[in-house]
Amino acid sequence: MLRAMIQIEGNKPLRLGIAGLGTVGAATCKVIADNQDLLSARAGRAIEVVAVSARDKSKDRGVDLSGVDFCDDALALARHPDVDCVVELIGGDAGVARQLVEQAIANGKHVVSANKALVAKHGAALSAAADTAGVAFLFEAAVAGGIPILKTIREGLAANRFTQFAGILNGTCNFILTAMEREGRDFDDVLAEAQERGYAETPPDLDVDGWDAAHKLAIVTGLAFGVKLKMDAMHVEGIRRIAAQDMQFADEFGYRIRHLGITKQSEAGVMQAVYPAFVKQDSAFAGVQRVLNATYVEGDAIGSLFMMGPGAGGAATASSVVMDVVDLAAGRAAPSFGVASEKLKEAAFLDMTSHSGAYYLRLHVKDEDGVLADVTGLLREHSIGVERVLQDADEATQTAQIALITHLEKEVDIQAAIAALNQADYSINDVHMVRVAAI
Ligand SMILES: NC(=O)c1ccc[n+]([C@@H]2O[C@H](COP(=O)([O-])OP(=O)(O)OC[C@H]3O[C@@H](n4cnc5c(N)ncnc54)[C@H](OP(=O)(O)O)[C@@H]3O)[C@@H](O)[C@H]2O)c1
Repeated sequence: MLRAMIQIEGNKPLRLGIAGLGTVGAATCKVIADNQDLLSARAGRAIEVVAVSARDKSKDRGVDLSGVDFCDDALALARHPDVDCVVELIGGDAGVARQLVEQAIANGKHVVSANKALVAKHGAALSAAADTAGVAFLFEAAVAGGIPILKTIREGLAANRFTQFAGILNGTCNFILTAMEREGRDFDDVLAEAQERGYAETPPDLDVDGWDAAHKLAIVTGLAFGVKLKMDAMHVEGIRRIAAQDMQFADEFGYRIRHLGITKQSEAGVMQAVYPAFVKQDSAFAGVQRVLNATYVEGDAIGSLFMMGPGAGGAATASSVVMDVVDLAAGRAAPSFGVASEKLKEAAFLDMTSHSGAYYLRLHVKDEDGVLADVTGLLREHSIGVERVLQDADEATQTAQIALITHLEKEVDIQAAIAALNQADYSINDVHMVRVAAI
């Protein structure tokens, strides 16, 4: 019933009001201008940019905006009489972006957004508001930039019951980790380069501390499992603590390190977490280099599906924004989270104490007789079996790095063992742990 209302009358043009003319906004205007004929043929109607908003009216955006109404106040787009769909490309989970989306929906306008922070925190409420207003609220570009993962999960794989999703969801983290891996450099050094190249923001916290990936993962969780999004039920770790030494040990053990977002559903509940993880050198994730993103999804009918592509950048992100616009213009806009918002379930979310798997541990210890035996003995006391061990001694400091990979173990046992190892008198620094991904 509501869906039937998301039809644009006859074959009148779909008229857009674009808020934000930065990296994504300007590229969106350009894609629409460059591919006008193609888009209208695919949508069955013309797609027109009739109004825009940004802070600085005088800035050259590299696109022809003559004849387009420039609104100094972005919120004017929400009540603009000629706008059918507001395209929110400002960003941020509060302030003008949130107000604009809320007001546009309340005023019966469709909304397309690339704003992961907003969708992760307020997506369930906004999709409910959109359903009530009988408008579409679409946000393909919010997750993995140019990779159409939301549409794939929602429509391409609509036949499936999903069990697991994993993704490299932050290009900055992947650029840093793969540069550290190739060039043996330290985190801080590569981060500085990423900032110079414009791959990392200043400050870089949202990316390197894992929050950007967490926002995207929360959206995937909601869509894949049909549950209400819960950002505060998410385990979030970034990549700052990964050292050049971990890259070397990972290589010797036959792994690479990637920053993954993983969400799983079992009978016990849903577990969503982002953290740096060891992945096998022959796994698809290990082949994801530089700023690329990748997504992997498991469903009962498809088995698994892996996609790799650009996770950011103006044109690639605009590709996803315009895909939503074309769907809307063609009258095939799907519900935001694949089901009507009132069908989204309250899930039981599990924390990391429910996690189990293999673990990489690195210990910096005094280089004394019996230390390795003591370490493995202490692990055994915590029911932890060791699969492989490497040791790297430094004669000058009389210290050693011990790196090991455990058997499949429970996180609670690992955490208890780490706490005990940190107390040992031969430990110089706290034990460094990285989970080994089972994909
Ligand atoms: N960049 C990417 O690769 C990428 C990828 C996926 C998703 N996204 C998402 O896309 C959105 C936009 O990102 P972006 O990289 O394009 O950001 P950006 O380059 O910083 O552009 C933001 C735009 O918003 C405008 N703006 C800021 N405050 C405003 C206000 N109060 N009223 C009107 N306009 C205002 C700015 O105007 P001025 O230009 O005049 O300052 C600018 O044009 C964000 O939600 C981001 O998370 C970005």
